[in-house]
Amino acid sequence: MNYFTYKNSILYCEDKPVQDIAQEVGTPFYLYSKATLQRHFDAFDSGFTGMKHQTCFAVKACSNLSILNVFAKMGGGADIVSGGELFRAMKAGIEPQKIIYSGVGKTKTEIRQALEAGILMFNVESPQELGRIQEIAAEMGCTARVAFRINPDVDPKTHAYISTGLAKNKFGIPVDEALQEYLRAKEMENIEIVGVSCHIGSQLTQIDPFIEALRKVKNFVGRLEQEDIHIQHLDLGGGVGIVYNDEQPPHPTDYAAAIQAELQDMDCTLILEPGRVITGNAGILVTEVQYTKVNRGGEKEKRFIIIDAAMNDLTRPSLYKAFHEILPVQEPAEEAPRHEVDVVGPICETGDFMARDRMMPDIQPGELLAVMSCGAYGFSMSSTYNSRPKVAEVLVDGDQFRIIRQRESYEDLVRGEDLP
Ligand code: LLP
Repeated sequence: MNYFTYKNSILYCEDKPVQDIAQEVGTPFYLYSKATLQRHFDAFDSGFTGMKHQTCFAVKACSNLSILNVFAKMGGGADIVSGGELFRAMKAGIEPQKIIYSGVGKTKTEIRQALEAGILMFNVESPQELGRIQEIAAEMGCTARVAFRINPDVDPKTHAYISTGLAKNKFGIPVDEALQEYLRAKEMENIEIVGVSCHIGSQLTQIDPFIEALRKVKNFVGRLEQEDIHIQHLDLGGGVGIVYNDEQPPHPTDYAAAIQAELQDMDCTLILEPGRVITGNAGILVTEVQYTKVNRGGEKEKRFIIIDAAMNDLTRPSLYKAFHEILPVQEPAEEAPRHEVDVVGPICETGDFMARDRMMPDIQPGELLAVMSCGAYGFSMSSTYNSRPKVAEVLVDGDQFRIIRQRESYEDLVRGEDLP
């Protein structure tokens, strides 16, 4: 459930017409609904009421400071994967003791920064990383809290690029090798073992792979107990999918109930790292149609809608062939004729599309379109390819809106470049 709806045939974000914002801000821009962000955070988090838990929002999904701040105010922590995300999370008001640090390639500088900040724990992904963390913590005269990220070799049944829990993926440490790493860590002077973690992939539409992974982690925790290693934090990662088109992902409450049922006999704090399920359907990309054209050269005629947003603004369709619903901001009549079109951007690549072979009503240049479900991995994956400045981000709260990131200028584009 989100707060992007037609009222009197005009698309609203909460109580604000989208076109009014476009008029003031210009296009393209990302538009988020605060009520939806809060509702989704709460829907996810409240499923775990009754057990010790901490929801750590996956910053990579949507990293704008104002949005992170919404979650900080709701008690949210952060799952980070870089020094930049640590910086953002702290600046947004997320308490360091609610920050966990995942990722296979943490640099020395990043580890130092996280130790200085006093984060809750590192999710360690390799034996060498453990050695590096110990070394830096020793240099700094402090103790690093760690969990190991276990690779449970479970098929999450999602897009290959976002499967992370298979043995062939680069993530985590195989269960069979993890025990010896825990034993190694136990002997290290500046390491405190506090947890175990796993994350098997993103946009999962079934609960079973989560449970299969959780059972493997639980078994492993049992093995650790035998070695007198006690786990305080069990981190199950993120990954709950959302509806883009016709997917049927589990409701967060059902997901939470299934997890809780598995963990009844365990005394530890559950950590969750949701990203997409919280922000995915809380944001859209608003774009203006520039031209329409029909190419008749091929076997069949091909219609195009050319918009002012492109693959640099939203890469998901190009990168994963991801489906995003596209709605005219002015609702078309139900009986309006529809044609099969490609909705494309201005970038000089055939891979620059938002939708292919999509049935759309007739649209005229100057009209606005809303690319839906862009709140996760939308702006955060955008770039300035083709020297296109990054677009603005806007947050609506009731009938008010605020620009939470200015559109970049041409001067921003060349900042830091040197002209001899
Ligand atoms: N925790 C870890 C360690 C992760 O690697 C990820 C996502 C998450 C949590 C959050 O997963 P979520 O709840 O959002 O599924 N760019 C891709 C998604 C990449 C996901 C990477 N890791 C996309 O646009 O579909």
